[in-house]
Formats: sequence, C-alpha cells, structure tokens
Amino acid sequence: PDRRTALMARAKTLLKERNAVLVAHYYVDGDLQDLAMETGGCVADSLEMARFGRDHASQTLIVAGVKFMGESAKILSPEKRVLMPDLDATCSLDLGCPADDFAAFCDAHPDREVVVYANTSAAVKARADWMVTSSCALAIVQHLKDQGKKVLWAPDRHLGRYIQENTGADMLMWNGACIVHDEFRGVELDLLRAEYPDAKVLVHPESPRSVVEQADVVGSTSQMLNAVTSMDAQTFIVATDNGILHRMRQMAPTKTLIEAPTAGNSATCKSCAHCPWMAMNALQGVVDCLERGTGEIFVDEPIRSQALGCIDRMLDFVK
Ligand code: 13P
Ligand code: SF4
Repeated sequence: PDRRTALMARAKTLLKERNAVLVAHYYVDGDLQDLAMETGGCVADSLEMARFGRDHASQTLIVAGVKFMGESAKILSPEKRVLMPDLDATCSLDLGCPADDFAAFCDAHPDREVVVYANTSAAVKARADWMVTSSCALAIVQHLKDQGKKVLWAPDRHLGRYIQENTGADMLMWNGACIVHDEFRGVELDLLRAEYPDAKVLVHPESPRSVVEQADVVGSTSQMLNAVTSMDAQTFIVATDNGILHRMRQMAPTKTLIEAPTAGNSATCKSCAHCPWMAMNALQGVVDCLERGTGEIFVDEPIRSQALGCIDRMLDFVK
C-alpha cells in the first residue's frame, strides 16, 4: 500500500506539472480510474474517451486503455502528445484483423459501405467509410440500411450479428471476437438468473448470442453503468470485463452487482472476465510516461488523415 500511495501522489504531481490529462477506460485498474477522476480526467467508454481527448485543452493526453484508444486520440489530435502506460496493450479484435487481409476483403466487395468497430488499427480505419463504437453501432448501421446501403462489417462477429438481427441490414462479416466477452456462457447465465429472479441482466454486445438474448440492457460500458444507476432494480448481473465493477460500485454503492459466468468460472478461476491487455495498465506506467516520455503513440500521416474521415463521420452522426 505504501508504494501505491507514493505512486499515486507522484502521478498526481506529474500530471499537474506536465499539464497532462488522464483518459481512462472502465476496464483498467481501479487506481488508474480513481487517479483520472481525482485529477480532472475521465473514465469512459471508447466513444467518450475519443471525444474527451479531442476536446480537452491539455496538449498531453495519457490514455489508459488499449492501443486502438491511443491511436484514435492521436488521429483526432495530431498536435497533441499521446502517451500510454504500456504500448503492448492491444486487443484480440485488432490482432485478428490485419490491415492487408482487411484491404483484400474490401477490394473484393467494392459495392459495400465499410463499417469498422473502434477496436481496430489505424491502418484498418484508413480503409473504412465509418467507424462505430458499441454505443452507436446500431444507430449507424440502421441509418445506412435506411439509405439502401449494403455493409461490410469488421471485426467483431458477435456485435455484427447483434446489429444484423436488430436492423435487418445486409452485412458481410469479418470473423473476429473479443477473447474476454466470447467466454460468457448462456446456459450458466440462465442458471444464475434462476438464483436471482429479480436481477436485471446487463450485457456488452461483444458477447455471444445466447448471452445477449437474456439481456435487459445491451450496450456500451457507459450505457451499462447508466443502467445500474438509473434502473429501479436492486440486483444486476453484469456481462462485461469485471474492471467496470469498480466504477459501478462507486456510482451505485447500495446495489448488488454479480459477475456473469464465463466458461472458466466453474473450475479454474472465479472471475475470468478480465482483459489481459487492459490489465497491463499500471500506476508505474503512468509515472514513466510523464517522467520519461515513454509509450508515445505515433500514426503515419497518410494513414492518420485517411483514418480521420471515418471517425469524424461517426462523431458528426452522434452529435
Ligand atoms: P466500450 O467501452 O466502447 O463499450 O468498448 C468496450 C471495449 O471493448 C473496450 O475494449
Ligand atoms: Fe479487446 Fe476485448 Fe480487451 Fe476490449 S476487452 S480491449 S475488446 S480484448
């Protein structure tokens, strides 16, 4: 605890001295979330992180999350320094959608509007017409469908299927998955719901269909947090990375929050739903960024300016 207190204090001083702001995702360590909240930064979903970083006056952004979040911040604000606590923090969706293969997929289907999830590299975004996050994906694809457009979707197959089923849009899909949400299990969730019949079920749409089908609310991390604070229920079953429970408990201290079961729950671990890449973000990393300028994000200019188009289109849409 002493080392932690010292690192917290050091990080606070450095953020102030360097005129930097910490932009954190709900899945990172609770200390980093608290640090962000206590120093004028934010804890947010991926859409809000992008907007917050773009609109903040500070010229140095510390992005605690995974690489695509740092890249999106840099794409939106090339004049700012964007630093990350650990540059190796990536995402299975990003890894599973290499830019060259994706470009070939797009080339083979030139008649389709290319819609990519935020969880992709800058090079993949450079090829897209639209970027979406979990909080606005449904509305944007509905909009495209209403315009009579056919969609090429990448990379998350569960989110893609959820959107396809809810909009009826013609969607050709990449076969990617989030290694964290893919582990939630419908059968076990059904059993858990029988134990807590009054519980509301909150599900992130990167989860399999058998889990999404049982949801009272399907949404982004911020939308799930809003549900906990605004819904009348006392008990919630939460199907997303368990890092979010930190903020949920702070925002709704009297509510009962239960983690949804994962494939690994039964035998090997109690709560497997935690992203190994999000977990790489630590206080020491924040201090290192600020003290030594480690973890800086760079995006090559031609790719950056091409990728900006699809992000701006989304931000204009959700305005
Ligand atoms: P949101 O916070 O936008 O819902 O995204 C979740 C996610 O997968 C981040 O890794
Ligand atoms: Fe990627 Fe899943 Fe981790 Fe989010 S939780 S960063 S989608 S692997």
